[in-house]
Amino acid sequence: MLKDSVQEALNEQVKHEFYSAHVYLAMCAWFEDQGLPGFASWMRMQYQEELGHGIRIFDFINDRDGKVIIEGVDAPPTSWDSPLAAFEAAYENEKAVSKSIDDLYDLAGKENDHATRVMLQWFITEQVEEEASTKQAVDRLKLAGNDSSALLVLDQQLGSRTSAE
Ligand SMILES: [Fe+2]
Ligand SMILES: [Fe+2]
Repeated sequence: MLKDSVQEALNEQVKHEFYSAHVYLAMCAWFEDQGLPGFASWMRMQYQEELGHGIRIFDFINDRDGKVIIEGVDAPPTSWDSPLAAFEAAYENEKAVSKSIDDLYDLAGKENDHATRVMLQWFITEQVEEEASTKQAVDRLKLAGNDSSALLVLDQQLGSRTSAE
């Protein structure tokens, strides 16, 4: 059985994951529009991955006999100034998600909810990867600068991503 405080925070995290999903889907559309299908494809996979994160917590709440509450999420932005600006926004969003997972982990500790802590350990590890991959794209886009051929190479590289993990 979940304590109310933990259940509320877990539902909030489901919302956070679905919001992230929508941001990545909006970025997918924007990259399509920019003629950068590789980046768009990467964003589409990231969208699917974020849906998976939300569902993972959704399942956990149900498994613990809790109550899932699906709330509306805010509309994501629809455009970014540049590919670099989009990935910088993604990186900032991932850092915010990491912080909210850390806060949830602290709360579960305070409430002696060991099962929630164990479940969250997967997310803590995952966030290291999420921050690293978005930061890597930021760094590469900075290196590419205004060189459109370098941008197209990066588009191909990110487009080779094959799994939503
Ligand atoms: Fe996530
Ligand atoms: Fe990931």
